[in-house]
Amino acid sequence: MSGARESVHGMWSGRFAFILAATGAAVGLGNIWKFPYIMGENGGGAFVLVYLLCIVLIGIPVMMSEVLIGRRGRQSPGLSVKTLAQEASSSTRWQIAGWSGLVASYLILSFYAVVAGWALAYVIKTARGDFQGVTAEAIGGQFDAHLANPWALMAWSAVILFVTVYVVGRGVHKGLEKAVNFLMPSLFVLLGIMAIYSASNGAFSEAVQFMFTPDFSKLTINGVLLALGHAFFTLSLASGAMIIYGAYLPSNVSIAKTSVLIALVDTAVAMLAGIAIYPLVFQYGLTPAEGPGLIFVTLPIAFGSMPFGTFFGTMFFVMLVFAAFTSAIAMIESTVAWLVERKGLNRLVATAATGGSLWLIGLLTVFSFAKADWATFELNVFGKPITNFFEVVDYLTSAIMLPLGGLVIAIFVGWVMKRKITEEELQTSAAVYAIWRFAIRWFTPIAVIIVFLHLIGVLDL
Ligand code: PFF
Ligand code: NA
Repeated sequence: MSGARESVHGMWSGRFAFILAATGAAVGLGNIWKFPYIMGENGGGAFVLVYLLCIVLIGIPVMMSEVLIGRRGRQSPGLSVKTLAQEASSSTRWQIAGWSGLVASYLILSFYAVVAGWALAYVIKTARGDFQGVTAEAIGGQFDAHLANPWALMAWSAVILFVTVYVVGRGVHKGLEKAVNFLMPSLFVLLGIMAIYSASNGAFSEAVQFMFTPDFSKLTINGVLLALGHAFFTLSLASGAMIIYGAYLPSNVSIAKTSVLIALVDTAVAMLAGIAIYPLVFQYGLTPAEGPGLIFVTLPIAFGSMPFGTFFGTMFFVMLVFAAFTSAIAMIESTVAWLVERKGLNRLVATAATGGSLWLIGLLTVFSFAKADWATFELNVFGKPITNFFEVVDYLTSAIMLPLGGLVIAIFVGWVMKRKITEEELQTSAAVYAIWRFAIRWFTPIAVIIVFLHLIGVLDL
């Protein structure tokens, strides 16, 4: 039966197209916007260390598993897992792994589009020279003012969703491949330039100390959970994305090699972003726990004072928007693929309906940042304060749905699917296969279960 199924949505043209798309899905706001600020909120070095361990021991094996599921199932995430469960003559309940990914990526996109909208607005602000000759404080003030205007935020996120819907709905990924081909390396180079600029003009040694000297006394169990969850988020795991992208992957491509490559690039981008941002944080007396505004109040400081700052700054935000955009496409794709497969909807209609509903749900995030009364409150979830709807959606997805989704995927692939099938699909050396299989059967389940037991207070370490 191997390779018997075909995806009804088409296929990637080859290995390189898949690598570009999957890297595009991986590299995004998670690396450049989210990683730096959650690292700061969770004490720095120790968080980074746990995060890196999670990428290597859990992220890469889970990514391989998802691509494998997708390529074997050749359908949207839920249906792929369901088909494979039936083949393993096991309960179709396992399909929950696929469906929860679909829901998670849908929910994530609701706030992701809003934040991508900030980046889009910042393209214009930077190009206009808003940050030239302005104090660090005033730059912070500009960001607060930006958030305080919900109408503008709604408009920007509408633009992001509209373009996403257009591209996905019309199936014009082809042109996109070309754009990404050029923009991703450029983003990398530009981040490198930013990192060098910050390192030489900011408090570099303090930044390195903060990012790479683990102080475990600063890491709470919630911090560990967020590091684990972010490893999933940043690699686009347990979100359906890698399953659906795997579904379009030609059979002769090495899943192991491409997964490692994608994880490497993703991690490198996150580290570069940290090095571009933290020297400025310490130089200008900002706090690492600044929160979601961190890059929007630090990088403009650099753009305002560095040579060719307007040019570099504008380019930077353009590329950030593109990086976000290629991730947004990955997030919407599984919902659309499912609506097309099962509901028989026309692709454009399915995409437009998804995009429209996302915009509405995104209002929760918009009004959270605009600090509307109805969108802010005080909750305490396992010791973590949650103060608005954005934080609810973020915590629910990254801290809860992604790790639990990853757990189910790991158990399904490691314990339920027949060894022969996973071997056949991974087509790798005996040693790599053995390492992968060990990791997926033990590391992911044990780590996720221990962290959750600890979180709910059943287990005390
Ligand atoms: N990996 C993306 C990032 O780091 O920005 C976010 C993401 C993309 C999550 C696609 C989930 C997903 F399905
Ligand atoms: Na990422």
